[in-house]
Amino acid sequence: MADEELVTERFDAESLVRTAADDVERAAEAALRPRRLDEFVGQRVVRDQLSLVLQAARARGRAPDHVLLSGPPGLGKTTLAMIVAAELGASLRVTSGPAIQHAGDLAAVLSSLEEGEVLFLDEIHRLARPAEELLYVAMEDFRVDVVVGKGAGASAIPLALPPFTVVGATTRAGLLPAPLRDRFGFTGHLDFYATEELERVLVRSAGLLGVPLAGEAAAEIASRSRGTPRIANRLLRRVRDWAEVRGDGTLSLAAAQSALEVYEVDELGLDRLDRAVLSALCTRFGGGPVGLTTLAVAVGEEPETVETVAEPFLVREGLVGRTPRGRVALPAAWEHLELPVPPGPGTLFG
Ligand SMILES: Nc1ncnc2c1ncn2[C@@H]1O[C@H](COP(=O)(O)OP(=O)(O)O)[C@@H](O)[C@H]1O
Ligand SMILES: [Mg+2]
Repeated sequence: MADEELVTERFDAESLVRTAADDVERAAEAALRPRRLDEFVGQRVVRDQLSLVLQAARARGRAPDHVLLSGPPGLGKTTLAMIVAAELGASLRVTSGPAIQHAGDLAAVLSSLEEGEVLFLDEIHRLARPAEELLYVAMEDFRVDVVVGKGAGASAIPLALPPFTVVGATTRAGLLPAPLRDRFGFTGHLDFYATEELERVLVRSAGLLGVPLAGEAAAEIASRSRGTPRIANRLLRRVRDWAEVRGDGTLSLAAAQSALEVYEVDELGLDRLDRAVLSALCTRFGGGPVGLTTLAVAVGEEPETVETVAEPFLVREGLVGRTPRGRVALPAAWEHLELPVPPGPGTLFG
């Protein structure tokens, strides 16, 4: 089996703890998605609130308010959108901001909706302005103006839409214009998961995959998964590969540790680039402050990659600080690299 799989997957070993999913991964994820709200692990607040919204709508026999889900990639927005439709017993139509090039594309989708359908609009913050305006009206008045003809002779024919529910997802709620945000009756914000919640995600996934996962291994994988179910499931698959090819098929603690060493995911969930940035900052620049461009050159990456790919998690973990004069290493960075924390300005902001 897996020789071929292992080889192709080794190429993206570097991206094991990144949050974007490619097509192969999306297929693997589909098999692991919770289908109902009570299978969805963690996010208690959002789950409770959503459960009320859905139950009330069901009891009234009406489409619920439009739902906006925001939060970082890999935390369960798409999963929840599918759950909304499943809990309502409604069918789901899926599209995304970037997939809609023109307002007309959206008008076509909207005018083909059937009563009670759920329209999932992923990356809704990337919708083009004209489409956005069309969406306001559709969400509020259940109407779409179909433009007929061109130029001076063009006219808009209003078309009534049956009641439906938009579920919008965004990683950047701040980028949504207020009028669009206001049209959502319910907004749920997803936060990073606690390690214990990720353990439950892993146990559930291992059950579905039919692989024997030891409790200690689940804890180990969970603690390296950056609070993100997508990463947890991905690391689980890599540990399974290791256990099948080099171990006895059991996902033990030792198997998890060995596998994650091969894939260069450390105890905190840092990968090679993250560690390169940290170690350049601490050893070459004495803890900073150092400018982003200089730091990027030191690790042989584009500044943008360092800033958008490595830095957010390093900042979130309290390893790196951003100051007006550049990036600084915080005490936890030295500790993580097992270097003595220097006294003095290197570890201070400013
Ligand atoms: N709360 C959860 N419980 C169990 N699995 C989850 C949960 N949230 C996300 N996942 C899993 O993580 C993967 C990524 O979730 P997804 O909904 O695609 O994230 P997003 O759309 O926010 O990027 C999916 O395989 C999904 O099954
Ligand atoms: Mg998604």
